[in-house]
Amino acid sequence: LVNGELKKWTGETTPVFSTISSTAHYSPTVLGSIPAMGEAEGNEVVDAAVAAYNNGQGLWPTMKVIDRIKCMENFVTQMKATRSEVVKYLMWEIGKSLPDSEKEFDRTVEYIYDTIEDYKELDRNNARFTKSQGVNAMVRRGPLGVVLCLGPYNYPLNETFSLLIPAIIMGNTVIFKPAKHGVLLISPLLTAFQTSFPKGVINIVYGRGRDVASPIMKSGKVDILALIGNSKSAIALQDLHPNKNRLRLILGLEAKNPAIILPDADLDLAIQECITGTLSFNGQRCTALKILYVHESIAAEFNRRFAEKVDALPFGNPWEKGVSLTPLPEKEKPNYIQELIDDAHEKGANVINQKGGQRTENYIFPAVLFPINKEMRVYHEEQFGPVIPILTFKDIQEPLNDMAESNYGQQVSLFGQDIKTIAPLIDTLVNLVCRVNLNSSCQRGPDVYPFTGRKDSAVGTLSIHDALRSFSIRTFVASKDN
Ligand code: G3H
Repeated sequence: LVNGELKKWTGETTPVFSTISSTAHYSPTVLGSIPAMGEAEGNEVVDAAVAAYNNGQGLWPTMKVIDRIKCMENFVTQMKATRSEVVKYLMWEIGKSLPDSEKEFDRTVEYIYDTIEDYKELDRNNARFTKSQGVNAMVRRGPLGVVLCLGPYNYPLNETFSLLIPAIIMGNTVIFKPAKHGVLLISPLLTAFQTSFPKGVINIVYGRGRDVASPIMKSGKVDILALIGNSKSAIALQDLHPNKNRLRLILGLEAKNPAIILPDADLDLAIQECITGTLSFNGQRCTALKILYVHESIAAEFNRRFAEKVDALPFGNPWEKGVSLTPLPEKEKPNYIQELIDDAHEKGANVINQKGGQRTENYIFPAVLFPINKEMRVYHEEQFGPVIPILTFKDIQEPLNDMAESNYGQQVSLFGQDIKTIAPLIDTLVNLVCRVNLNSSCQRGPDVYPFTGRKDSAVGTLSIHDALRSFSIRTFVASKDN
């Protein structure tokens, strides 16, 4: 979709493989293909977005708020009709379970409606005169220009749209490159994008980052890089921009969220939350619990019961009822997880659940590793998959010190019951991360709450409220009392 036109692609294509085995069900291995775009197409989309923005004088950035809202409403109405198709792609492309795929779709629709409401509220609040020291002012929120938007494969719809929707509604023009996995699910939405927004407001490209996203950044015409994914890609893209000082960054990056289980924790609850926290969508979430700190006095019981629960999780295809673990979209992921297991094993840890590390074609069963130490790769690396490292601690200062030393700072889960212990801990934890979850696992939503991180975990804040502000600038019209 370039400059309002759905172009027919005649060049080279790249096949898109399903994460589901070709032998299972009726699945074809190849689900479809995408255009392998390069420099020429990169330049074409950037020019389309620049022309539609036209230095803030284009139809879209100057359009009345109410009319922009109508376009967005039109889009979401059309989008709702694509639910079953998009859900099917979520299952086949990235292996997300049926209930989670449906949740991702519905959450996105709700996100768009909530964004519209928040935008109306923002506009109402801005359209007021204020007066200070004889100067009358009317503050507004204006767009910033051209946004390059790149979303992650684990939430190819919902998280991508948490960038795309606020960027568009605030009057920017956008270039969007879908993630490598979860790319075909954008196809059913192309017509809705094309018919809801003026030409050039949203432009969609496909291909490898280095082929198509690099020329876009090198052009120097991107004003905002909005990316949810890994720091390596974010830094590489940022470095290509010839004038980095002018580039605004909105980034959701890696995390290594810990759970701290205190001696008086409700163990049933802590174990259940740690299961969901570590293994929901096979641990492929930036908010997943990626390391567990268990007080030494309860470690033996916690480990035994946790390992048993992990082994009891059902593995299957995403549409199967009650399925918890599903095939992994990244072909190389099981080998990477195996490397982490082997490394930890060599350095003194054991897989403490019976099924841990069992392999099938595109899966590796979650491995619970204990005891972990700082020499091990799994202590440092964001595994983003089914392996769970566990450490014990004697003194609460030990996990706190580790968190302070960590390169990441997104969230933490704290399990315990004594308010006298918990209350002062919270005051420390909120200065190490951005969200403290009490007796519950880490998560991004509800989308009204700020979603961000310290250190290498994020740049800028997402949430409906914050994103509208991140993708805009505060301007005002002033007049003097004469
Ligand atoms: O991958 C990171 C996502 O932001 C996780 O979102 O906590 O809603 O699963 P979630």
